[in-house]
Amino acid sequence: MCGIVAYIGHREACPIILKGLRRLEYRGYDSAGVALLNGALNVYKKKGKVNDLEAFIAEKDTHAHIGMGHTRWATHGEPNDSNAHPHYSTSERIAIIHNGIIENYAALKTHLQKQGHVFQSDTDTEVFVNLIEEIQKQNSCSLEEAVRLALHEVVGAYAIVVLSKDDPGQLIAARKGSPLVIGVGKDEFFLASDATPIIEYTNEVVYVNDYEIAVIRDGKLDIRTKEDVQQTPYIQKLEMELDSIEKGGYEHFMLKEIFEQPRSILDSMRGRLELEAGHLNMGGIRAYERKFVNAERIIIVACGTSWHAGLVAEYLIEDLARIPVEVEYASEFRYRNPIITERDIVLAISQSGETADTLAAIELAKSKGATIFGICNVVGSSIARATDAGAYTHAGPEIGVASTKAFTAQVTVLTLLAMIVGHKRGTLTDSKLRELMVELSNIPAKVEKALLLNTEIEQISEIFRDVPNFLYLGRGYNFPVALEGALKLKEISYIHAEGYPAAEMKHGPIALIDENMPVVVIATKDSSYEKVVSNIQEVKARKGRIIAVVTEGDTVIPPMAEFVIEVPATSEVLMPLVSVIPLQLLSYHIAVLRGCNVDQPRNLAKSVTVE
Ligand code: M6R
Repeated sequence: MCGIVAYIGHREACPIILKGLRRLEYRGYDSAGVALLNGALNVYKKKGKVNDLEAFIAEKDTHAHIGMGHTRWATHGEPNDSNAHPHYSTSERIAIIHNGIIENYAALKTHLQKQGHVFQSDTDTEVFVNLIEEIQKQNSCSLEEAVRLALHEVVGAYAIVVLSKDDPGQLIAARKGSPLVIGVGKDEFFLASDATPIIEYTNEVVYVNDYEIAVIRDGKLDIRTKEDVQQTPYIQKLEMELDSIEKGGYEHFMLKEIFEQPRSILDSMRGRLELEAGHLNMGGIRAYERKFVNAERIIIVACGTSWHAGLVAEYLIEDLARIPVEVEYASEFRYRNPIITERDIVLAISQSGETADTLAAIELAKSKGATIFGICNVVGSSIARATDAGAYTHAGPEIGVASTKAFTAQVTVLTLLAMIVGHKRGTLTDSKLRELMVELSNIPAKVEKALLLNTEIEQISEIFRDVPNFLYLGRGYNFPVALEGALKLKEISYIHAEGYPAAEMKHGPIALIDENMPVVVIATKDSSYEKVVSNIQEVKARKGRIIAVVTEGDTVIPPMAEFVIEVPATSEVLMPLVSVIPLQLLSYHIAVLRGCNVDQPRNLAKSVTVE
């Protein structure tokens, strides 16, 4: 978690850092701080959001051309002023910001305390900066050398930036396991956890690799490995637009991202679905086509919403390509002793491409010889770089902590993948393929239509804004959608919600149903429609309050439900792309009506880079 930003150049550093921290607040927002180097090394930090920090430093001297800032999601130590970053070393001559976790911090801390270091916080990060100070003292070496030696002693993950009062024109950064991007301007450099704080100044970036140390001084960037081997920085061009990371007139990023879906779904198919030519292309799998065609099994690893997209893919791949699929929580998979062979394909799905558990699951599968295919949204992210091949979802930056457009883009790419592999394997006929291609190309327009439900759903949300519980039911392709609807509601409105396979309800959750329980049933016309109608009857018989998501024109369900939400008809295998839309809107409106911070829900962060 946590977002880091740093600047070195000819401009005023503080405004650039504060603006950058606002862009990174999605990564953590329980405290924030800056360190500014201008002869003195001043650290200002505060519990709360970047706005609180800005108010706190309003009267301070913030003039500096070198500085760094941090927005925190607490791991070690509660959110308060002293645990906020940056952290000083004991002498206050060195300061650090850190995103990640130092696992052996307790042993290091005991050792450092014996050497006379005094700690002001409960964090692992303060141990890191004192370790650097101690190494520099013991070895009488440069700061750069001390950082390098310290990296050999710490176990865990980090992206760090270090400033020292004794080296007033220098900034040092390093990474292992947590993202770090360097923007290269004219005689100036911008460092950040992702490219969003950088894009308005330069589109030339260097992605720092694991175990690399970057030293910037005298307008030059020097990158070396932990073993001190000099590297040639590989400068890449960013394709991100500034507009894509601003709210564009919407009240919240989440609402903007929900409404972007017709476009983001189209972008995720662009160049891949060529209807006129009758072709499907996915560059990422070309070299691995044979592997996919002959795969004995596909294992999907992911977390949260991406795991739900993985569940949809299980239905898609088994239906269309007839390859057995297992969908695993990355966090569980990595700690059991899974049976993986060289004939397996592991599909890792992640919006951020930085989720620690998913990355660890990939490393485990790699060590057993499986082929790893990634589906990520963030270009150049750690997962994108750790996989053998992959496909980007091209949904554009997703800033709202609750994932929306990333989910539909993931499902779109997974649908294309299942179609390509199914066709190559001969399990999907030419005519069925053609039919699905046509229908998939109609999905953006159908999503656009589903978005017209916004006002109606806002009205329904008024009625349910104060309930303590919700149940979501779905079957087949709509079962993962039920899980996703429940996750959306609980994470942003703090209402307890459970998603369940509709038929499984009678094995337990049915006991919860009474006249106070809202039950969202996704009951679109598909192969399990009749069975879901029976499940609705079961809820109704127990006086549950039914909110039914049905296919346009349905006449059977409306008399049974208190509220009916009609979505456009589509093929069963594509329905999650449409049926999820009203659920995203429902959670959004309920959360807004409850006064919740929709884009930055409590205790959460957009990218979970700790296990
Ligand atoms: O970046 P990833 O897709 O790997 O993130 C996985 C989950 O942390 C993420 O989907 C999370 O569950 C979202 N808050 C859901 O809205």
